[in-house]
Amino acid sequence: MGLTCADELVRAGHDVTVCDPSPGAGATYAAAGMLAPAGEAWFGEELLLRLGQESLARWPSFASSLSERSNIDVDLRAGGALLVAGDRDDLEEVHRACRLLDDSGVRFEELGRRELRVREPRLSSRTVGGAFLPDDKQVNPRRVVDALLAVLGDRVVRQRAVVRKDGVALEDGTRLRADVVVLATGATGLPRVRPVRGEIVRVRTTDAPACVLRARLHGERVYVVPRRDGEVVIGATEEEHSTNDVAPIPTVGGVARLLETARALLPGLETAQILEITARDRPGSPDNGPLIGDVPSDGPARHLLAGGHYRGGVLLAPVTAAAICAYVAGRETPPFVDAFAPDRFNALNRDEDSCT
Ligand code: GLY
Repeated sequence: MGLTCADELVRAGHDVTVCDPSPGAGATYAAAGMLAPAGEAWFGEELLLRLGQESLARWPSFASSLSERSNIDVDLRAGGALLVAGDRDDLEEVHRACRLLDDSGVRFEELGRRELRVREPRLSSRTVGGAFLPDDKQVNPRRVVDALLAVLGDRVVRQRAVVRKDGVALEDGTRLRADVVVLATGATGLPRVRPVRGEIVRVRTTDAPACVLRARLHGERVYVVPRRDGEVVIGATEEEHSTNDVAPIPTVGGVARLLETARALLPGLETAQILEITARDRPGSPDNGPLIGDVPSDGPARHLLAGGHYRGGVLLAPVTAAAICAYVAGRETPPFVDAFAPDRFNALNRDEDSCT
């Protein structure tokens, strides 16, 4: 998120320094890279769906500009996603999701048992139906980070920074004065943001599915994202954690559930080779929507948040970067961005106070 905002600000002519001891090593490192506003859509989150659609529309030009400038192919792929159900209850949830997409004008195609397996013959014969989401896409987030680091070059300072009234102080004691500080620190250090742990497994197989699969099998959720060269990302667990926890470490229980569900979905994964198991914390907010915009600052430097993107950081990076750029320039932002201003929770606080 921070690197994308920095890139957009540099392209708008601003003098930018990114302070991060290990850029791309947070939630992005575990992200599967699904650009999936339709696949992630849920009731009560219609504004988030809208924001996601706006960002998805920006991805093709962002990806091609980034690939051209960095000479790194970020592997943006269209091809859609399949929602897959393992039993009647799971299928009922797919139907509910489709009704929501219908109300929001998003394209989908409901599929019966046979139609589903015609689209993806590798699926278990026990799957009962689903839906195809033609507009969802995917990208390789680690390649995106490499590309952003290449274009930002020595604007990235690999040090921790502490926010000061007039800018930031680096851990080596250097003070950087700034007109604006954009806070994009992921799951740590942002107001209202809580860590939601996720575990993923990367495998290599000769039997990868043709497109992204998002399945619910007897209530267990799993997604399977095919990449180049037979690599497949299997994700992701979801677990709330206290902010005091130690660094995210994968657990036997979480990984076993993921692998069992993925193997039940795609029997061909039986012989897949495990390449990597990773856990990271997603940055969740009280309403699961991002925090984009001004927060109070007690000094001359203005503070903007670009955080709390929860399950959608990769998807929402381009629209967030454009919004941050607009805020910095004092330009108007569209209502679908203003809906995610950090001060929306101030009203929540007042309501809570009046109830107690
Ligand atoms: N966007 C997928 C996840 O957060 O696991």
